[in-house]
Amino acid sequence: MSKINLSIRTESDISEAVRQSRAMAGRLGFSTTSAYYIATAASELAANLWIHAGGGVITLQRLDGKGGMELTTIDHGPGIADIDRALEDGFSTANGLGCGLPGVKRLMDELDIASFPGVRTEIKARKWL
Ligand SMILES: Nc1ncnc2c1ncn2[C@@H]1O[C@H](COP(=O)(O)OP(=O)(O)OP(=O)(O)O)[C@@H](O)[C@H]1O
Ligand SMILES: [Mg+2]
Repeated sequence: MSKINLSIRTESDISEAVRQSRAMAGRLGFSTTSAYYIATAASELAANLWIHAGGGVITLQRLDGKGGMELTTIDHGPGIADIDRALEDGFSTANGLGCGLPGVKRLMDELDIASFPGVRTEIKARKWL
């Protein structure tokens, strides 16, 4: 399968996102290290859905063309008021370490965040083969 939608409602859904993203990255031809990077990014994004948004959906998807993989999350939680701050190391509104989103930015090649607080937040992270 080149596209998988996973609903994140419980902590164990996060583990499933990790497992499935690592497996898909392997199938697409990423190295073991890169597949773990992608799985770690999926773990952080899925955890954020659970912790900050009260749940949401993460989509794992093959990228055609030059070849790669994309993680997309969509939620309808409170949203991210200041995206630049959310990307700073150590910034957390939930007493976390604040290293999730900055980590995703480092682990993946591209990160796009769009948030309309109270309406919808969409995050896309891509890694190229
Ligand atoms: N889906 C989301 N909805 C609303 N706010 C979010 C979402 N994802 C991230 N944020 C905001 O961005 C901040 C930074 O996220 P980040 O993942 O870096 O840190 P954290 O989740 O607080 O802690 P850590 O991931 O280190 O445990 C969060 O504290 C939260 O305010
Ligand atoms: Mg986090």
